[in-house]
Amino acid sequence: MNTVPTIELNDGAQIPQLGFGVFQIPPDETANAVKTALQIGYRHIDTAEMYQNERGVGQGIRDAGLDRTEVYITSKLNNGFHRRDDARRAFDDTLKALGTDYIDLFLIHWPLPTLYDGDFVSTWQTLEEFKGDGRARSIGVSNFQVDHLKRLAQETDTIPAVNQIEVHPYFTNDTVRAYGVDHGVATEAWSPIAQGQVLGDPVVQRVAEATGRTPAQVVLRWHIQRGDIVFPKSVTVERVRENFALFDFELTDADVAALTALDKGEAGRTGPNPDQFDYIPD
Ligand SMILES: NC(=O)c1ccc[n+]([C@@H]2O[C@H](COP(=O)([O-])OP(=O)(O)OC[C@H]3O[C@@H](n4cnc5c(N)ncnc54)[C@H](OP(=O)(O)O)[C@@H]3O)[C@@H](O)[C@H]2O)c1
Repeated sequence: MNTVPTIELNDGAQIPQLGFGVFQIPPDETANAVKTALQIGYRHIDTAEMYQNERGVGQGIRDAGLDRTEVYITSKLNNGFHRRDDARRAFDDTLKALGTDYIDLFLIHWPLPTLYDGDFVSTWQTLEEFKGDGRARSIGVSNFQVDHLKRLAQETDTIPAVNQIEVHPYFTNDTVRAYGVDHGVATEAWSPIAQGQVLGDPVVQRVAEATGRTPAQVVLRWHIQRGDIVFPKSVTVERVRENFALFDFELTDADVAALTALDKGEAGRTGPNPDQFDYIPD
């Protein structure tokens, strides 16, 4: 059996634990990549305004002949649009580009604590509006550190349904994950195979040999067994298929622990540190 389990979010919604990420897929290739993933069986797509390929995501779903309600879609507010009116306009544009009147999950992409006078709270309150009017079924954040999550808990009415953060064996990000477990914020692990960088690791290779699976399957299965949500990206059909075949084998507790022990702390990040990141696309 290779059925993708769902995880219940703190607002009662169900999210498929495995999805398909489209970061760095060129806009004109996205519809085809998404259609292929849906044909293989994925029913959860992770995009963002910053990726400039939301239009292709919507097109890919229609090309696959699926009804909107059969696919779980996430997008994210771009960094230049944190002010309230900008966020409202950007959210309208996201729905238009996707060709839908609602989104399953909408996230603040980055907290940007050094910009906007450190105010991501009013941005979050704008996302609360989108949830309130039903156009976002769930709302969440991405790249939020523990301090940022605590501030939302103190100053707003809604606990984020998810926090989408960098997590893989070289950067287990366990402090932020633990806050999520304690406060009902589901963790979504981005760059789950560290864009390929963990696949040659001798420990990953040993577990792959022992289980008869590929290094990518072993690492993705590690995430699944830790309870996180993942959406590996690939434009290579065989890999898209490989990354979907995660539910007919299990890692032992010792294997999970061995992969977790590969953590390098801050040195293991492949992406920027959210406390400093201040990129605004043109
Ligand atoms: N919220 C955020 O700030 C944030 C940041 C980064 C990513 N994300 C999300 O997370 C998703 C996944 O992260 P990611 O795209 O950065 O990296 P990733 O999924 O960890 O890795 C993707 C890379 O690994 C290769 N790959 C995929 N499957 C493979 C396999 N089975 N064997 C060998 N190589 C494989 C892909 O190559 P090919 O495509 O050439 O096959 C691609 O170069 C993104 O697409 C995006 O949705 C979010």
